[in-house]
Amino acid sequence: MGASPPFLLVAIDGGAASGKSSTARALAARFPLLHVDTGAHYRAITAEMLRRGVTPGDGPAVESALAGLRLGTRVSGSAAQMEIAGKVPGDEIRAPEVNAAVSHFAALPAVRTALLHYQRSQVEVARAHGFKGLVMEGRDIGSVIFPGADLRFFLHADPVERARRRAQEGQQDSVAERDRLDSSRKTAPLTCPPGAIDIDSTHLNLDQVVARVAAEVAARLPHVP
Ligand code: DC
Repeated sequence: MGASPPFLLVAIDGGAASGKSSTARALAARFPLLHVDTGAHYRAITAEMLRRGVTPGDGPAVESALAGLRLGTRVSGSAAQMEIAGKVPGDEIRAPEVNAAVSHFAALPAVRTALLHYQRSQVEVARAHGFKGLVMEGRDIGSVIFPGADLRFFLHADPVERARRRAQEGQQDSVAERDRLDSSRKTAPLTCPPGAIDIDSTHLNLDQVVARVAAEVAARLPHVP
């Protein structure tokens, strides 16, 4: 059996509205990397639980709903989108009810375990589609999902600036409250893992953040302009 071709794993973690998604998307547009937004996974599961009337306090109902979920992946351009029962959820995953509930579902070990396996499986999806690596963004990618990632970044920004960014996107979202819940949970809390490259984006624009991250990626994918 021949050795697998080299594959670059890039992890980007950070709080709500810290610029992770825009940065990861820009990287995937520039390099042959598959973009995986794990916040969208937690949001999709939350929207599905709300649709079924399942509350995060009802452990058995959450576990039985999880057991029946058929998760898949659709690759669209350079983005991997999670499917539930063959469908990619739409804008409902950005609704205010989902913003308010997602941290409560994301704190449940059963939900995290289900997504851990799914998220690790994205490496095979990326390889099967001919990508040279993947850029995965979330809260625990460099600490739990891929602690051995080739590159791990942690983005943070002042909470006032982050609330301004969300409001500018027309979103109703309590970023500071979500961060408080995401950072204080027992399982896989939001944290800057030791050894990650920490970037404060409060006074940087998107291009400046992308330039910083892209320089590190380019050094490891030397054959890509
Ligand atoms: O990135 P986002 O704001 O769309 O994420 C929505 C929520 O999902 C976030 O408040 C916490 C949860 N999340 C998580 O717990 N772990 C991840 N790796 C990604 C998101």
